[in-house]
Amino acid sequence: MIAKSRVKVYRYNPDRDSTYRFDDFDVPLTEGMTVLDALNYIYENYDSSLSYRWNCRAGQCGSCTVMVSGKPAAACRSQMPRDGEVSIAPLLQFPVIKDLVVDLRQGISRLERTRPYVQRGKIPERPERLSQDDIEPMKELRKCLECWGCISACPVVAAAWHEFSGPTIMTKLARLALDRRDIEERVKVAFTDGVYSCTTCKTCVEVCPKSIDIPGKAIEKLRAYAVRTGLGPLEGQMAFLNSIANTGKSVDRTSTPLLETVPERIDVLNPVDRVAFFTGCLMDYRLQDTGRSIINTLRRNAVEVFVPKNQSCCASPAFRTGVTDLAEKQVKSNVEIFESLGVDKVVVGCAGCGMTLRTNFEETMRRARDEGLRFRVYDFTEYLVDELGIERLDRSGLKPVNKTFTYHAPCHLMRGQGVKDQPIKLLEKVPGLRYVQMQEYDRCCGAGGGVRTGKRPLSMMLARRKVELIRDSGAESCVTECPFCSIQIKDAAQQLGVNIEVVNVADLLAESYQ
Ligand code: FES
Repeated sequence: MIAKSRVKVYRYNPDRDSTYRFDDFDVPLTEGMTVLDALNYIYENYDSSLSYRWNCRAGQCGSCTVMVSGKPAAACRSQMPRDGEVSIAPLLQFPVIKDLVVDLRQGISRLERTRPYVQRGKIPERPERLSQDDIEPMKELRKCLECWGCISACPVVAAAWHEFSGPTIMTKLARLALDRRDIEERVKVAFTDGVYSCTTCKTCVEVCPKSIDIPGKAIEKLRAYAVRTGLGPLEGQMAFLNSIANTGKSVDRTSTPLLETVPERIDVLNPVDRVAFFTGCLMDYRLQDTGRSIINTLRRNAVEVFVPKNQSCCASPAFRTGVTDLAEKQVKSNVEIFESLGVDKVVVGCAGCGMTLRTNFEETMRRARDEGLRFRVYDFTEYLVDELGIERLDRSGLKPVNKTFTYHAPCHLMRGQGVKDQPIKLLEKVPGLRYVQMQEYDRCCGAGGGVRTGKRPLSMMLARRKVELIRDSGAESCVTECPFCSIQIKDAAQQLGVNIEVVNVADLLAESYQ
């Protein structure tokens, strides 16, 4: 029997229809069939009035980009699922001309306004040609196809396109800012076009057909230039940055820090492993109980834990806002401390710190000594589920916790570290806990990238959308694994009058272990 897939296609003809609808088509699946192949099949066999775009059919032109089951993707590069159904809709943020064809003028005119080509002028020190060293950092940015998928996926664009011109435009501006021949003030344009509005959630990277690291290679690069020219960081971000520079912690001391209440080495009988624990500022100064929950869970599972007292901020706020000198200073001192312990695994319980250790620490050390980190960084749940092994988890003392929970996937955990469902797998081992998935569980809550501190009203717009999704899930508890996301969601829930418990994975696990 030939396998078939149900394809739901968005239809709308503004000359005839008062609203859109989805038409269903059964498409026989062939080996390696793409979404574009399926659209061609529908056009040839069912309905030749269907409108859609395509050109190169090889992932090079970007013209075939549509929403495939809710996410932007190049139709010619998206494989049809082997079972179930797929929905195909036009890109978001753009008016529909007909069916899957959108009017891209709003994006194109924004791009044109930035004059996205090298502007030469009579500045003698500007080179005629670029060297290989000049070209290298631009290479990834030059891959942009202008498919506009990232604009459709970006949660900030969805909330306030007027405040942030979006990932496509930032990619072009960064490429031109890096081009030494160009005489235009690209950083100034990026600043007024909202470079500090990006939450660095990496949704754009996830949907980009060329996987361009737009937050890392464009946004944070432009922010670093903005800092050098005195435009950045934003006023609201200064308290965190000054605090790191003055005390080594991003927040002030308001109670006894975790690091002053736990020993530097926590021995266990017959250890199965040895790890170091990177607490991050919030678990040291604000969420000490969560830090203790992590240590106790590791200890309970026969893992010897080192908790160096002189560890300091991972500098995520500095990396994200472009204050690179401060950031790199923090990396070097932390790496020295953790490497001196002689352990080869470092466990982190905060999504933002974990991503910073994995990516920025690694890059900084590679630049400084031609070698990356001498230890491997694990997220707490990833360590328990994948490294220690979920089946080896000590479940002997787990008591039932009778509640339904939903999970908010922090951007810097899911897309920043590739840790997707480990927190859920872990909690599913707790008797009594029932998981319900919210819609868009990986949608950004708006806290990251310095947006919560620098642009609070914008940040809260994103957070309120997240809280609505949490509320609509019907769960009693929202579990997450990032202290910043927790604070943000709690704030927005309070603003909206939504009564929901927001809890860290480690705390829920600890509740069961009691
Ligand atoms: Fe060119 Fe798909 S048709 S990228």
